[in-house]
Amino acid sequence: MLLDGSFRRTLLARLLLSVGPSTAAALLVAAPGCGGEPEAAADIRCFEWFEELGACLDRDQALDELRTIYPKCEDYIESVESDATQREGVCCYEVTSRRNSDYCGVPGRPFMLEGHRHTAAPRAAEAGWLARGTASGSGGRQPSLADLTDEERETLADGWLRSALEEHASVASFARFSLDLMAHGAPSSLVEAAHIAALDEVGHARLGFSLASAYRGAPLGPAAFPMPPGLPVAADLVALARAVAEEGCVGETVAALVAAEQRARAEDPAVRAALEVIAEDEARHAELAWLTVAWAIGAGGEPVRRAVAEVFEAAAQSLRRPPLAEAEAPRGRPAALAAHGHLTGADLHALSSAAVAQVVLPCAHSLALWKPVVAAVTRFGYGPTSTSSVLSALECASAPKTPI
Ligand SMILES: [Fe+2]
Ligand SMILES: [Fe+2]
Repeated sequence: MLLDGSFRRTLLARLLLSVGPSTAAALLVAAPGCGGEPEAAADIRCFEWFEELGACLDRDQALDELRTIYPKCEDYIESVESDATQREGVCCYEVTSRRNSDYCGVPGRPFMLEGHRHTAAPRAAEAGWLARGTASGSGGRQPSLADLTDEERETLADGWLRSALEEHASVASFARFSLDLMAHGAPSSLVEAAHIAALDEVGHARLGFSLASAYRGAPLGPAAFPMPPGLPVAADLVALARAVAEEGCVGETVAALVAAEQRARAEDPAVRAALEVIAEDEARHAELAWLTVAWAIGAGGEPVRRAVAEVFEAAAQSLRRPPLAEAEAPRGRPAALAAHGHLTGADLHALSSAAVAQVVLPCAHSLALWKPVVAAVTRFGYGPTSTSSVLSALECASAPKTPI
């Protein structure tokens, strides 16, 4: 699957030019490897709970509840691995999911802690995160609901709610990133950009919650974010750079490209306007991530470069994962849903893989942070078309100052 060509080429050029050939020349080539099977991903999931209801649900009940909350990702949570942790109105559980379902939410910068993704639980009748501008909180633009069935509205409400919760988590992620930068002596330009990016994510969350609310016909928002007490900053530059490479260079580059593709397929004006903003902002966030990695390598040297190289090697290996099997038939007409920005889990998986292959890895290659092995690429299972697109992108990316 190929991504929106114009946006992809422009983003690739921006990322390469933002770091520059002089930085690339200072870096060393990482030794690649390839292998490994799809892994189970650890995750923390929460839902809203009131003390008056007594203790949190047991594991079996919690699994049902979590799958109800995230119906679009019916097969996402495989099992609940821990008893509940109850705090500040939510019950949280450690769960196991399959890595090849990572794309059931819109990609973006996650809030990670000890290998777990954190998002807030959704909360009904929460109007504090709706976009400003009108009494309905739509920010001046409402999607057209006229041609949608009730089932399609519910599908779209679920999808945009899931996306909004991920954007909401990105606010917390950038807040922590700002502290990490401060703690390790980053230049003011990076600290400034991190704060601006956090505000961008507030806007993305508002747009998402507003669209979800419009499709649901009632306000939707986040419960309190499950922030752990004593949140640590990155222990050193290696940890900082590894996190930025994973969450920014991979996560936000993919997010920008997927949002651009969603926008290209969407027809509803309110949805297109929201995705226009998100795609452009995520592209800047991706640039910030690549710039941060370049700074961290310059400041921390070989150990940092090695840690970053491992991230891109893992991204290359992720291309070997099989496409996501849909857990359920689309709840609605695919064309009607796509017109409102909905992508299936399989679409997201394919687009995310294409984004990694066509932009992330070429950038990493051009910056001498990842060296492709053609034999490994051909084993990814995406056929000769994808393989050739990977190789042509690599060739294209090898001249960073040449307009693409
Ligand atoms: Fe975002
Ligand atoms: Fe972002």
